[in-house]
Amino acid sequence: MLLLAALLAAAGGGGRREVSMQYNPGWNNSSVNLLHVRAVGQNDTLHYVWSSIGAPAALLVATGSQSSTLHVNWTRLLSPAPAGAIWIEPPGSVVYSTAVVFTKVFEYSKADTPEELFYPAYDLSSFSWDSINRTLNHTALTAEFLGVPASDPSGSFSNGSLAFRVTAYEANGRDGPLPSLLHTANSSKVEFVLAGVAPRGNGSRFALEVATVEEPGVARRLRSARSIDDEYTPTIFETLSLAAEARNASAALSFLQWKATAYGSRSPKREDGIRCRAHGLQAANWTLPASGVIRAYFGEGLGSAYAVSAINISFGGEDGEVYQEKRYLSWSALLGFGQPPEDTFSPLVISIMAVALGTPMALLLVGSVVVLFAQRKCYSEYEPIN
Ligand SMILES: *[C@@H]1O[C@H](CO)[C@@H](O)[C@H](O)[C@H]1NC(C)=O
Ligand SMILES: *[C@@H]1O[C@H](CO)[C@@H](O)[C@H](O)[C@H]1NC(C)=O
Ligand SMILES: *[C@@H]1O[C@H](CO)[C@@H](O)[C@H](O)[C@H]1NC(C)=O
Ligand SMILES: *[C@@H]1O[C@H](CO)[C@@H](O)[C@H](O)[C@H]1NC(C)=O
Ligand SMILES: *[C@@H]1O[C@H](CO)[C@@H](O)[C@H](O)[C@H]1NC(C)=O
Ligand SMILES: *[C@@H]1O[C@H](CO)[C@@H](O)[C@H](O)[C@H]1NC(C)=O
Ligand SMILES: *[C@@H]1O[C@H](CO)[C@@H](O)[C@H](O)[C@H]1NC(C)=O
Ligand SMILES: *[C@@H]1O[C@H](CO)[C@@H](O)[C@H](O)[C@H]1NC(C)=O
Ligand SMILES: *[C@@H]1O[C@H](CO)[C@@H](O)[C@H](O)[C@H]1NC(C)=O
Ligand SMILES: *[C@@H]1O[C@H](CO)[C@@H](O)[C@H](O)[C@H]1NC(C)=O
Ligand SMILES: *[C@@H]1O[C@H](CO)[C@@H](O)[C@H](O)[C@H]1NC(C)=O
Ligand SMILES: *[C@@H]1O[C@H](CO)[C@@H](O)[C@H](O)[C@H]1NC(C)=O
Repeated sequence: MLLLAALLAAAGGGGRREVSMQYNPGWNNSSVNLLHVRAVGQNDTLHYVWSSIGAPAALLVATGSQSSTLHVNWTRLLSPAPAGAIWIEPPGSVVYSTAVVFTKVFEYSKADTPEELFYPAYDLSSFSWDSINRTLNHTALTAEFLGVPASDPSGSFSNGSLAFRVTAYEANGRDGPLPSLLHTANSSKVEFVLAGVAPRGNGSRFALEVATVEEPGVARRLRSARSIDDEYTPTIFETLSLAAEARNASAALSFLQWKATAYGSRSPKREDGIRCRAHGLQAANWTLPASGVIRAYFGEGLGSAYAVSAINISFGGEDGEVYQEKRYLSWSALLGFGQPPEDTFSPLVISIMAVALGTPMALLLVGSVVVLFAQRKCYSEYEPIN
């Protein structure tokens, strides 16, 4: 019981942040999207910059000051040479910067052939995106980037769209809808949604390519954690994370974390699960992510001083038909600073374990007492014989 209380306290505690969202700060035009999420803590500020200028991306900057501010030179940002267009004042307050870019969506088919058949990839940097201004909710701290390919010769997107839904958090907690990710005030959620997009083949599966940018001396590592407890995300026992680690320390500086599942429904249930797999993390400084904000912030050093790595996350294993049927795919991931949150055993599983381990223990105890008494009785019975 004490253990249970301690675990609940650990899950509930933690710092709160004052979170605000600003759309295109300093620019009165909604033809491009830049969302600044400012999360002020006790004596630090976390800046998240989400943008669909080029490939959709999130720039994360942690600062050691409550009053650090984001600056954007819009004429430079929207020019072909955006380096230096985004910076933090005062520059000395910056503790750590990183970025995540969603570069491509692959579609492939495995139907009846040993070889995977790849269709032309969707390059997310050549999508056209709706203004997120009308989707901004300053109370729920959410926004949605909705896009379609600028040119769509196959007509796959005539009834569909691709979206990135962003949610910022002010405090620790757990999401209601599946996969019910546990989050901290240092993190935000991004949900990748394919809705109504016509597959180009029978049993099409999709994969999302994600790139990360790291400072010198920091590298991303793919971690996988398995647990016997699936109470919060039924039938899913694996949590994956791409953790940024300094070469001389193992504590994570930032992370992208997800459960090994996507869902084929707007209101996901256990049976809507779509298997999600991570393929190898690769050094990828050969292909610089075409994101305006990333180039603007990291500048010329992108790919040399700042290392780029990339990973493919695929959806649909043997059950490639789920998308065919539902025409809906949603995958959620948490993006944040510090250590990725870890699921502790749920109270239900702790009580089950307590019962499971406790019962034999009690039986053993009762058993030995009974044996002891029985032996005494035996001795007393045997004594007269002796
Ligand atoms: C922003 O632009 C709209 C129309 O384009 C205009 O009505 C509005 O006054 C402008 N706001 C500012 C603060 O310039
Ligand atoms: C965003 O929407 C608000 C109100 O809904 C409006 O006042 C503002 O001008 C819009 N911003 C841009 C850049 O269009
Ligand atoms: C917004 O910018 C685009 C491209 O820069 C331009 O075509 C459009 O006229 C601008 N809209 C407003 C309301 O200023
Ligand atoms: C931040 O604040 C906490 C307590 O509010 C304090 O313990 C810590 O030393 C402060 N850190 C810095 C870098 O000022
Ligand atoms: C913004 O960038 C442009 C082009 O690089 C430059 O000419 C201008 O001086 C910059 N503006 C500010 C306020 O720094
Ligand atoms: C914003 O989100 C809150 C809470 O989810 C909801 O009650 C409200 O209706 C939303 N506002 C808009 C404009 O959608
Ligand atoms: C789009 O939807 C309409 C009506 O729901 C349907 O008739 C049409 O075939 C769909 N097109 C594609 C490409 O799925
Ligand atoms: C898809 O499957 C249907 C029947 O299952 C078949 O008639 C059709 O030719 C297949 N299409 C392709 C592109 O393989
Ligand atoms: C790791 O190395 C950086 C410089 O590369 C240094 O500033 C930092 O103190 C080192 N951390 C540890 C724990 O050794
Ligand atoms: C890519 O990064 C590696 C390690 O950071 C470096 O050795 C290599 O020279 C880089 N390649 C290019 C083309 O910049
Ligand atoms: C992802 O998969 C596609 C198709 O196989 C491949 O072209 C691409 O290089 C892969 N990306 C990474 C980061 O492995
Ligand atoms: C959140 O970030 C702050 C500073 O950036 C750090 O002190 C704190 O430990 C982090 N919290 C978690 C739960 O990672």
